[in-house]
Amino acid sequence: MSGKREQWNSRLGFILATVGSAVGLGNVWRFPTVVVQSGGGAFVLLFLLIVIIVGVPLIIAELSLGRASRKNVVTTFSVLAPRTKWWLIGVFSLITVFIILSFYSVIAGWAVIYFLGSVLGIFTGLDSIGLTAINQQLISSPTVPVFGQGLFILLTVVIVLVGVTGGIERISKIVMPSIVMILLVLLIRTLTLDGAIEGVIWFFRPNLALINFNTALDALGQVFFSFSLGMGAILTYGSYLSDEEDIPKSALIIGVSDVGIAILMGLIVIPAMFVFNIEPGIGPAVVFVTLPAIFNTLPASIFWSSLFFVMLAFAALTSAVSLLEVTAAYIVDQIGWSRKKAAITMGLAVFAFGLPATLSQGVLAHFTILNFSILDFMDFITSSIFLPVGGLLIVIFLGWVWGTQKAVSEIKKGSPRFALAKIWSFLIRYIMPVVILYIFISGIIG
Ligand code: PHE
Repeated sequence: MSGKREQWNSRLGFILATVGSAVGLGNVWRFPTVVVQSGGGAFVLLFLLIVIIVGVPLIIAELSLGRASRKNVVTTFSVLAPRTKWWLIGVFSLITVFIILSFYSVIAGWAVIYFLGSVLGIFTGLDSIGLTAINQQLISSPTVPVFGQGLFILLTVVIVLVGVTGGIERISKIVMPSIVMILLVLLIRTLTLDGAIEGVIWFFRPNLALINFNTALDALGQVFFSFSLGMGAILTYGSYLSDEEDIPKSALIIGVSDVGIAILMGLIVIPAMFVFNIEPGIGPAVVFVTLPAIFNTLPASIFWSSLFFVMLAFAALTSAVSLLEVTAAYIVDQIGWSRKKAAITMGLAVFAFGLPATLSQGVLAHFTILNFSILDFMDFITSSIFLPVGGLLIVIFLGWVWGTQKAVSEIKKGSPRFALAKIWSFLIRYIMPVVILYIFISGIIG
């Protein structure tokens, strides 16, 4: 291969793009939904613990692997451990990425539809019953969500085509700050509604009776999903990182921003569900019913609602781009296709593979796998199984094959002190494999 590999234009650009990968539907849609299903505060507590023990250290691990090899997810492993089969982790990652992107575009497609619907004012003035009804009508239609999904994938492909620094960096610089701003407005609005405080208490008070191995596995899966870990997205972004960059500091910024936005969302959605009496049973659609209910209490609801959903679609876009980028980087590096051919082919494949998930809310609703809808099944199998397994393999690879010493010297290039090197190495070698494996196995059996 010839030519210099692309690098991020600036430190801020890299941070924003990586935060852009991490922050997306995982924070805005998935986090509140899982919190509601898993009983509130207990889940939140587990989530935070896993963020500290597994999440942030693994961001450091993936960034250092990517930067050390400057290669895609598959080649990284064959470069760092030649003549071994560890590159199979990369193949496994590609499969995971493909499935995630397929169902991710479905939910992102809903955000697109909700943006258009908000502009047209179809949610204005409806109460939670009306909003639930219109949500069911929209997502069960055989055409509307397919349109949203297709449009979303098209946008993702276009940005990946423009290239990493041109496309991804630029868009993240606009989206991330705007999202935070809108969420703050929503937070203030929600917390000043009558009865919101009960929801806040429910969100924070850990009911320890609700902690079990299933909750722990849900929390683990949520950390992996939300931090974009366990399938090479952060690793691939690390491969475009310059040697001067401070990896531990970046990991901390990424982790804190991602958790911050998730908590913000939780503090918006859950109190609002209490205020508007929204049934937790509606599953993946819960956020799409709750948020418009809040907007309807604001002056200029059409404005806020349109702005929010367009930003949500963009936040999802910066995540989807990082997913598509994992596959594109591999195909361009290894198969030698042009970026264009790689991105378009993958986009079409993802669209086709995601169609059953889109239709699972309507015409395919009777079709279930292990009692999950097709959509929920794709989410479950990737978040709760493939990502933890992928993360476990990455940690074992780094700790026991490539070696934490090499990783530490890679990290020290941009962070000469790396005061926590010893603790980090210990976590990687001993604590993380045990914690991930323990939660994973007991969650699956339990
Ligand atoms: N972290 C992204 C989100 O929270 C989703 C994602 C998962 C992106 C895995 C890349 C890889 O929305």
